[in-house]
Amino acid sequence: MILLTGATGYIGSHTWLELLLAGYQVLGVDNFVNSSPKALTRLESLSGQKLEFIQGDVCDPAFLESVFQSHPIKGVVHFAALKAVGESSSNPLRYYENNLGGLITLLQIMRAHDCRNFVFSSSACVYGDPDESPVKEDAALRPENPYGQTKFMSEQILRDLEKSDPNWRVAYLRYFNPIGAHESGLIGEDPMGVPNNLSPLVARVASGRMEELKVYGNDWETPDGTGVRDYIHVVDLARGHVKAIDYLLSGKPSLTVNLGTGVGYSVMDVIRAYEEVIGRPIKYQVTARRPGDVALYYADPSLAEALLGWRAERSLKQMCADSWRWQSQNPMGYES
Ligand SMILES: NC(=O)c1ccc[n+]([C@@H]2O[C@H](COP(=O)([O-])OP(=O)(O)OC[C@H]3O[C@@H](n4cnc5c(N)ncnc54)[C@H](O)[C@@H]3O)[C@@H](O)[C@H]2O)c1
Repeated sequence: MILLTGATGYIGSHTWLELLLAGYQVLGVDNFVNSSPKALTRLESLSGQKLEFIQGDVCDPAFLESVFQSHPIKGVVHFAALKAVGESSSNPLRYYENNLGGLITLLQIMRAHDCRNFVFSSSACVYGDPDESPVKEDAALRPENPYGQTKFMSEQILRDLEKSDPNWRVAYLRYFNPIGAHESGLIGEDPMGVPNNLSPLVARVASGRMEELKVYGNDWETPDGTGVRDYIHVVDLARGHVKAIDYLLSGKPSLTVNLGTGVGYSVMDVIRAYEEVIGRPIKYQVTARRPGDVALYYADPSLAEALLGWRAERSLKQMCADSWRWQSQNPMGYES
């Protein structure tokens, strides 16, 4: 059985489905700090299976102990973390406590139960503002905000743990910018409060839930002046986790890989693709750059292809179409 922490969140819910479709038995845990229990019923109808889920906090050792005592967990995919970059700067202690405290508690309980296969949700933000793109896994690590620091420090904790005990097997998956939703429109990204990422913001403007989109700067050194990122469809990303679990459970050694498409798209590219999908203009306004933003980065995903046999398949248009289906069928997210 595979334990998913943060299982009802955006990437967790899509990965849960893909693991079930691949034949894995899955136990999900989440404390709903940034997700809705309603994702569970949607996942049940999509998978046609009764889900195994326990509500709880990964910072709570007694909770995790009871989970491991009552389930034969062979591997863990650890999504549970706080992820709002801006909030991590205004309230860094909350981020260090949750993201590092949760990781350490989980690893201690895993060790006590002799479970040492671990897939970690890392992020491209460990690279900070990379010297060049495509970014390879051996690029310098220079996170620029407390959230990015929690991912960098988590990687460090895991690498030290591996050095102390070679029985640990860790997949460090560095995600680029996940967007889109499952093609059914039944599950998708539904952050609490105001979203931080481009895709849910565009979706909210498209549906009339927000007035207009802010484009942070059009004077970057990029082809159209707006920031360039490597957007990856969340279902492609989810399938990367299935490949990582297959890989670890087959006894292969730890690995660190970028999960991205290898193609950079600008903010304006995303707006235009979305406009094409919905057939009308998206209202936006160009404002000043945000401190801490970077002009451009995109992944070199070739190592993931070589080691996992995985590559992203879905186009930007499909990402926008699936995001729009989710948004238009669920204008208020899971509360619709
Ligand atoms: N979405 C992105 O752009 C992105 C990019 C790179 C890395 N990541 C990482 O991927 C992981 C999943 O991201 P997501 O986009 O699905 O975020 P999300 O907020 O939708 O999902 C995270 C889930 O973890 C849960 N959670 C948080 N703290 C918890 C705790 N202490 N105990 C139990 N549950 C807890 C939340 O309720 C939420 O359901 C995170 O670790 C995130 O940092 C995300």
